[in-house]
Amino acid sequence: MNIFLVRLLTLCILATFVTCDPPAVPHKSNYNRKTKLVENAAGTPRGECPNDQYTGSGMVTSPNFPSNYGNGDSCAYFLTAPDGYVIQIQFITFTTEACCDFLYIYDGPSPIISPLLVRLAGSNLAKTVYSSSTRWMSMQFTSDQTNNMQGFQANFSSVDTANPCNRDVVIAIDGHSTLGTEANYHKQIAFAANTLVTNWTVGSTGIQVGPVLYFTDESEEFNLDDAQSVSDLQNLFNGFRQHPIAGQDLDSMEVAFSLVTGVVDTDFPFRQGWRTGIQRVLVMFLSFPPNDDADLQAAKVYTDKIISQGAIIVLVGLNSNVNITQMIPLSSGPNYVLGVNDVSQLNAAFATSISSALCQLPASTP
Ligand SMILES: *[C@@H]1O[C@H](CO)[C@@H](O)[C@H](O)[C@H]1NC(C)=O
Ligand SMILES: *[C@@H]1O[C@H](CO)[C@@H](O)[C@H](O)[C@H]1NC(C)=O
Ligand SMILES: *[C@@H]1O[C@H](CO)[C@@H](O)[C@H](O)[C@H]1NC(C)=O
Repeated sequence: MNIFLVRLLTLCILATFVTCDPPAVPHKSNYNRKTKLVENAAGTPRGECPNDQYTGSGMVTSPNFPSNYGNGDSCAYFLTAPDGYVIQIQFITFTTEACCDFLYIYDGPSPIISPLLVRLAGSNLAKTVYSSSTRWMSMQFTSDQTNNMQGFQANFSSVDTANPCNRDVVIAIDGHSTLGTEANYHKQIAFAANTLVTNWTVGSTGIQVGPVLYFTDESEEFNLDDAQSVSDLQNLFNGFRQHPIAGQDLDSMEVAFSLVTGVVDTDFPFRQGWRTGIQRVLVMFLSFPPNDDADLQAAKVYTDKIISQGAIIVLVGLNSNVNITQMIPLSSGPNYVLGVNDVSQLNAAFATSISSALCQLPASTP
């Protein structure tokens, strides 16, 4: 055997031994602490894990970046967007050993429980953008015992990836005779189905939308995951009963809000499809005023509870019965109450105003 062949053989044997381990299963004990510099069997130190907690926007890198990562590294990264946003990450540079050194990106708060979005290895992945579907993204980087490379650097931000924004929305349709005519009721439905939601990114990676029809002391409702597209959603709206106006007299504002806020209440989660890590919004169409101050206060008990749970309440007055100023205390604030004098004024510009209102953040911003 000549020397060249021997070397080749040695390489092959080495390759069999040291490379291409099965993908390492992320290990919980590595989380929430920095990996110490430890000599591994091959004598190459492990990399020092960077911080593991990130919020808002910033930069994440592999261990030791811009120097090479170490051998046997295992580092976790937890990225959190403010309520109402999702995480988007973009790689500026990415180079790892293609067979064996992996970055796992999970669509959710934990590498243990969240679905895997993508497993990355190799190079030429720069500029690729990945998005979470909720406010959380987590990542796990693992390297094997040989061949360390530069690794990765990525910037992340808190963004909206859905149109008009990443929220889960209940749209409550008013079925009361205070709308005036049955034709008005149908105009309201047509507005919701054919104008308000036509531009929305409806579905599990965008906005989940659940329509509710409320009248007297009942409601008809659909789950948030019943509609996976705009046309699904339009069918749900159009599936509401045909003649809700006849005999549907107003009971009280208290009853209306007890019915409708129940579907947003986290203590009362009978509705399927709400996602955790996504802001909840109730858009409530109204055609009537409270009976009196006591009724307003009684309704406010329900809306206060919902708002204290972090949900947004947008109120939409459908006619001049509704005093916008009087409704502000039942909403998330003055910018969350809109109105028209008549349902015939429900148009595309007004739809855009509703979409903007529900995308506001009452609390923190990125
Ligand atoms: C990353 O940074 C670039 C350059 O500043 C920017 O254009 C891009 O939007 C950023 N991407 C993310 C996901 O933050
Ligand atoms: C609307 O409500 C506000 C606040 O309750 C009140 O001051 C105002 O007089 C009301 N407007 C009408 C037209 O009733
Ligand atoms: C739909 O989106 C287009 C383009 O962004 C915009 O011009 C239009 O006003 C939107 N329509 C509604 C009803 O929001």
